[in-house]
Amino acid sequence: MRLTAAGSGAKRESVTIAQRRRMSNEAALFPRNFHKKMPVAVRGEGCWIFTEDGRKYLDAAGQAAVVNIGHGVAEIGRAMAAQSSQLAFASTTQFHSEPAEKLAARLLAMAPPNFRNGRVYFTSGGSEATETAIKLARQYQLEIGKPSRYRILSRRQSYHGNTLGAMTVSGNVARRAPYEPMLAEWGHIAPCFCYHCPFEKTFPQCELACANDLDSFAGGGDADSAAAFICEPVVGATLGAAAPPEGYASRIAEICHRRGVLLIADEVMSGMGRTGKPFAVQHWGIEPDIILTGKGTASGYAPLGAMLVAANVVEAFKKGSGAFMHGFTYQAHPVATTAGNAVLDYIEAHDLFARVAPASQALIEALMPLRAHRHVGDIRGLGLLGGIEFVRDKATRAPFDAAEGICEKIRAAAMEEGVLTYPTQGCVDGKHGDHILLAPPFIITPEESSLIARSLDSALAKVFPE
Ligand SMILES: Cc1ncc(COP(=O)(O)O)c(C=O)c1O
Repeated sequence: MRLTAAGSGAKRESVTIAQRRRMSNEAALFPRNFHKKMPVAVRGEGCWIFTEDGRKYLDAAGQAAVVNIGHGVAEIGRAMAAQSSQLAFASTTQFHSEPAEKLAARLLAMAPPNFRNGRVYFTSGGSEATETAIKLARQYQLEIGKPSRYRILSRRQSYHGNTLGAMTVSGNVARRAPYEPMLAEWGHIAPCFCYHCPFEKTFPQCELACANDLDSFAGGGDADSAAAFICEPVVGATLGAAAPPEGYASRIAEICHRRGVLLIADEVMSGMGRTGKPFAVQHWGIEPDIILTGKGTASGYAPLGAMLVAANVVEAFKKGSGAFMHGFTYQAHPVATTAGNAVLDYIEAHDLFARVAPASQALIEALMPLRAHRHVGDIRGLGLLGGIEFVRDKATRAPFDAAEGICEKIRAAAMEEGVLTYPTQGCVDGKHGDHILLAPPFIITPEESSLIARSLDSALAKVFPE
């Protein structure tokens, strides 16, 4: 085929060039891993992804807890196309736009009561939302006359994003490792993880020692320098859907409030209905000062995240300098926020938040037989944010040697069976511990849940032959 300068011929030719480059191992995209070969996804429908080589995969991880409403919902694309042909972009330095304003109001209405007169700051993803919250928390302390407060406290064994500020507050050992010399140390407290309690205690006799760690830390020598505390209400990638025991969230909220430290709930993974409520913090009735979203905000149809800011923080800015010293070119993008509105329209029209609890129940029931497997240590989670941890020894909960790469082997075997999962290593101590995350779209059927369980069973049989 000859190269043509324009028109459909050029389009056909460029696809051919891309395919030819891939076939000759001369791909142009900088990959996540040069040693892994990725299939090329060409189409999505419901809970399924179809690839160029004619295979199809059941998306049991929602592509990293992103695709809440399912793949291939045509009306989302239509709404985005209409907005982009009417007004694709207007800079927030000069204009506000209707879709962003509308989505902001809808998110605030879904949030806890203290957000009713709050505001929303839209970003292009979760890491930007975390960066924004880190800076907002610092500037808030300046606005209220507490210039000594700048540290953002967080937890070990956590993940808040990949940019340097977000990585600074993250406690994910592997993801931090190469950048360690570049990261500030603002203070990481104990994780809340009952299956491998950092204090080797058991709930409720532990009396929430992990929450009290925040009190000791925030009240320690540097007490006047803490600006905020950030945590994932349900720890996603790093701990494989570890939800806190009763009382933890409210104890944390009480400590933050008492010590003048803002509470930032990172709901990039757990928010937008994934746990069965709009935001996971609503399971425990707490009111953080800031809530972060990403992933499900536009369900993967557009890059979109958000920082929801409660009324008390907004007031401090209004009464103070009036201007947040921060900004991104693409914040509150009209097409991305249109995608967010269209996703919420779809969620409302199909009552999708209400489907999370029964879908989660069906998934748990389907996974039940796996509990008997000699290497399945724990199946945990909240709503459709679930995790399975694999252990060498069930009685002692001892993990496999990290070098065995168990979770990656399980991911690969499950993929061979046609099921996509999200594997991570390090849940025990940052290095050891293997788990996979399951976070399917809210539309997952009981039959699809059974298929996930059967495929995982076959994958385990391959990875751990008798
Ligand atoms: C809890 C949490 N916070 C922040 C992020 C970062 O979001 P993004 O990858 O969209 O930058 C993630 C991503 O996995 C996450 O799970």
